[in-house]
Amino acid sequence: MPASSVKESRERVAAALANAGIALPQRRITCNLAPADVAKTGTAFDLPIAVAVLVAFGVVDAASVQDAVFLGELGLDGSVRPVRGVLSVARRMAQNGARHTLVLPQANLAEASLVRDLVLCAPTSIGELVSWLGAGHLPRAERVSGGSRAEETSNIGDVVGQAAAKRALEIAAAGGHNVLLIGPPGAGKTMLARRLPSILPSLTEEEALEVTAIHSVAGLLNGSASLTVERPFRAPHHSVSTPGLVGGGSSPRPGEVSLAHHGVLFLDELLEFPRHALESLRQPLEDGRVTIARASSVICYPARFTLIAAMNPCPCSYLGHPTIVCGCAEGDIQKYRSRLSGPLLDRIDLHLTLAPVTLRTLGSRDPAEPSATIRARVEVARECQRKRYAAHLRVTCNAQVSGRVILEDLSVDSAELLHKAAEQMSLSARGYYRVLKVARTIADLALEQSILPVHMAEALRYRPQLTREARPVSTPQGDGAALA
Ligand SMILES: Nc1ncnc2c1ncn2[C@@H]1O[C@H](COP(=O)(O)OP(=O)(O)OP(=O)(O)O)[C@@H](O)[C@H]1O
Ligand SMILES: [Mg+2]
Repeated sequence: MPASSVKESRERVAAALANAGIALPQRRITCNLAPADVAKTGTAFDLPIAVAVLVAFGVVDAASVQDAVFLGELGLDGSVRPVRGVLSVARRMAQNGARHTLVLPQANLAEASLVRDLVLCAPTSIGELVSWLGAGHLPRAERVSGGSRAEETSNIGDVVGQAAAKRALEIAAAGGHNVLLIGPPGAGKTMLARRLPSILPSLTEEEALEVTAIHSVAGLLNGSASLTVERPFRAPHHSVSTPGLVGGGSSPRPGEVSLAHHGVLFLDELLEFPRHALESLRQPLEDGRVTIARASSVICYPARFTLIAAMNPCPCSYLGHPTIVCGCAEGDIQKYRSRLSGPLLDRIDLHLTLAPVTLRTLGSRDPAEPSATIRARVEVARECQRKRYAAHLRVTCNAQVSGRVILEDLSVDSAELLHKAAEQMSLSARGYYRVLKVARTIADLALEQSILPVHMAEALRYRPQLTREARPVSTPQGDGAALA
């Protein structure tokens, strides 16, 4: 079941060998890609097919390729060209404890160098490889380390006021919770969300490898790529297709949710996204991965991301504005809001209604807290979580843990508060556990072992109120005193 990129391999291999001066007898050659019932795509099979043919015709000694894995595309001139997904292969080889040499294109060397304990060999052409194999020795390639790609990210201190929103983003960054920002035009929703990366905790080495591997599969790494050091921040436009968002397509590729793995997916103007695209987020938001079923195969991509969404409160977008009167009819507001389904809303932990900052506040010169200070608190809270969940597989933050684990940390008073509020707010089971997790993060930020009522009260405050009134938590004076 080869895709056309694999079928065309026939032409590339034949031309590459001819141009490398390796003459093959004029005979019919059958090449079997086993297992035959697995769909194959991409160009990485060129090099292994060429090597297999050379072994079959006795040009290359079979013993010389015994302990090697081959990967690479061939140019018609015999050059070995880069392919996608090398890091995934390298990681799998290392995980299996393989003692094989990975023979790969030189342009993918930086990527594969990220995996320690793996012997690499990087020929520039098939001719070079054949001469090495003839001599019975695959020379070890020098490991390449690309430079760090850390860019100067913008500072959350640029945003004036909006203390409640900044606090919510700090909680989201610390615990990996999802956020919805609602507010009138120009309130600073997009500005705030785009500055979130500057307060996110750093990636652990394992997380960085996973992120880089996905970006490699998607073909987003260039040759000089190094380990991704920043958490990904993906902000697809609302014209994105459903496969573009969650992955898929005729030759399946990871979508935006997977490219945002261990990072942030920012959906600006949430209601402009097609409804079926939004609904397709429900599975990855719950499971942390996407499963794409095809007639011939099932592909699973990881997708543990933090969702940040922004939208206006009503069609005219001025509902709840302190000075401008909203002219929308009640029915229109309902219709507008109903484009967001209950199940999706239920998966968002922190709902926040922003009011625009007053012009007076905008003019003030009081310095706001810079990203570095907030990030330091976030790192401490994340470290608490990593220690706490050390025994849990694949859990690094509160958002990923099962809610029942956290129940034990509740003080008697906060358990009482949660039960009362849950009944009054008609929380779903999911909502109940999500509030718990947010409260856990708030307690972690406060360096508290157990969850106290003050933490629980703040967490409950972020749950959506099922009323039609949009109540700004950020007062025009700018500060979330109401939270207390
Ligand atoms: N709190 C603020 N501090 C500093 N600048 C602000 C603030 N709020 C808004 N601005 C300014 O207004 C511009 C528009 O803000 P932004 O794009 O974030 O609005 P928005 O809430 O996303 O609006 P819309 O609903 O129209 O998308 C920003 O680029 C910034 O220059
Ligand atoms: Mg905006």
